[in-house]
Amino acid sequence: WSNHGKDTDAKEQQLEEFRVNNVGKKMTTNQGVNVSNDEDSLKSGVRGPTLMEDFHFREKMTHFDHERIPERVVHARGYAAHGEFVLYESMKEYTRAGFLQKAGSKTPVFLRFSNVVGSSGSMDTARDVRGFAVKFYTEEGNYDLVGNNIPIFFIQDAMKFPDLIHAAKPEPNNEMPQAATAHDTFWDFVANNQESAAMVMWLMSDRAIPKNYRMMEGFGVHTFRFINDKGKSRFVKFHWKPVLGVHSLVWDEAQIIAGKDTDFQRRDLWESIEMGNFPEYELGVQILEQEEEFKFDFDILDATKLWPEEIVPVKIIGKLTLNRNVDNVFAETEQVAFHPGNVVPGIDFTNDPLLQGRLFSYIDTQLLRLGGPNFAEIPINRPICPIHNNQRNGFSRQTINVGRVSYHKNSLANNTPSTSTEAKGGFVHYEEKVEGRITRARSKSFDDHFSQARLFWNSMSPPEKQHIINAFSFEVGKVNSQSVRQQVVDMFVHVDKEMATIIAHNVGVNKPTGEQSTVTASSPALSQANTIKLPQT
Ligand code: HEM
Repeated sequence: WSNHGKDTDAKEQQLEEFRVNNVGKKMTTNQGVNVSNDEDSLKSGVRGPTLMEDFHFREKMTHFDHERIPERVVHARGYAAHGEFVLYESMKEYTRAGFLQKAGSKTPVFLRFSNVVGSSGSMDTARDVRGFAVKFYTEEGNYDLVGNNIPIFFIQDAMKFPDLIHAAKPEPNNEMPQAATAHDTFWDFVANNQESAAMVMWLMSDRAIPKNYRMMEGFGVHTFRFINDKGKSRFVKFHWKPVLGVHSLVWDEAQIIAGKDTDFQRRDLWESIEMGNFPEYELGVQILEQEEEFKFDFDILDATKLWPEEIVPVKIIGKLTLNRNVDNVFAETEQVAFHPGNVVPGIDFTNDPLLQGRLFSYIDTQLLRLGGPNFAEIPINRPICPIHNNQRNGFSRQTINVGRVSYHKNSLANNTPSTSTEAKGGFVHYEEKVEGRITRARSKSFDDHFSQARLFWNSMSPPEKQHIINAFSFEVGKVNSQSVRQQVVDMFVHVDKEMATIIAHNVGVNKPTGEQSTVTASSPALSQANTIKLPQT
């Protein structure tokens, strides 16, 4: 433990109530009966048979048999730590979120890093997207910023998420490969869902093999809203910038490390925190006025697009420091339940169709993964503010609700929502005006799949470009289907002809015949430079 007992915060005190330390304690059954022998089962005679009445053996074995819960359907391999977020300057002008009001205010946080594709036992240094999920335990309830280390995503609509993951996970007939994009179904998905182009460029870059979690960025990806106390809405994107800068492994290093230490990144995080070398990340926001919604040549609701920092600067507003390792990985890291829908007053959603689908998916999966509707009572998930509502019962309910009223409205208990207006602190959803016909059609404003992919490529230094070509050649080179390889180079010619031609040569298919697309520039500055500002790795 790095600093237990010091700097205790509200969440730390709450967790303390649940900690049990067995050292030096008498062993008991779960019913509290003292145990006389924990190594020999009860038998008739020293050579058996064993007896059914051995309640101690039955309890011990049954509990063991039920120890596993399903791993997360994605982001199964993860590692987490506790910390605090300190606000640099008040964001009152933009949001009424309580934890963003007062410069210097501190909020306890829990941060889980993860790999998306591999199972919980896969290696850390795989080429993969990394999760960057932060739970802020605010006095107004939990706020979860469930982000990744890449600012965009593969798809634009949540409807495709199961397809993306089915294609990326090991192939179902032979469960291979584990934690790698080097296989047919992944590239077949990419070539046939070309909105993935920009994200795949990031994935083939060094940014998909971070050196460690301390030197990795985080992004909220979607466009969210900030709502201030006057009800004014602005669009916001969230960024985490590591104070140590962004650093990556090169592929040769990643492969060697994978063979020598599959826990390389989690070990780095654990040891850094144990040594008091606390990882730090600054929180940045890009803010757009409501009137600027249609200012760009991309749609700000499209999660495959970033907002170039040259035209929408990142304002740094605070710092997160990880300062304490968990006590128990299962109880904390595995049982934590993040959900993009966990927001507090002052932060709201947009109509991004990827975000909207996520708002359903997380709670749905957690109902299964964490065994029913009471997972918010698990210590790591409990908000630090009081919880009062009429929800009752269900598997493993912990709260003992007293009294007979568990319904609304009532006259027997004074438990109606007293905070039904924004002014009184209740969460009131932003009253966005919506109109239109019900349709499954996609907006034309989501159609440009290659401009930002190309800007990304143009922004790379020569060694970074070479690494991207090497990555494509390695990954696509593992694809068995000649047709899929050809489709991939025919797709990426739209990003850069020379790049695709070299890859085609390296993976043994015909030169792509198409042409690279021209960038539709988001601003005069961008059209001249033809690049976007990115931290060098
Ligand atoms: C985890 C669904 C897109 C970041 C998960 C989980 C599901 C899921 C079901 C497992 C949750 C659990 O078991 O607790 C989806 C769907 C998406 C989507 C349906 C798109 C429609 C994204 C995007 C991001 C993201 C765009 C990044 C901005 C994460 C992270 C985790 C996660 C970081 C791991 C959280 C943890 O550490 O426990 N996602 N996801 N996901 N997702 Fe997504």
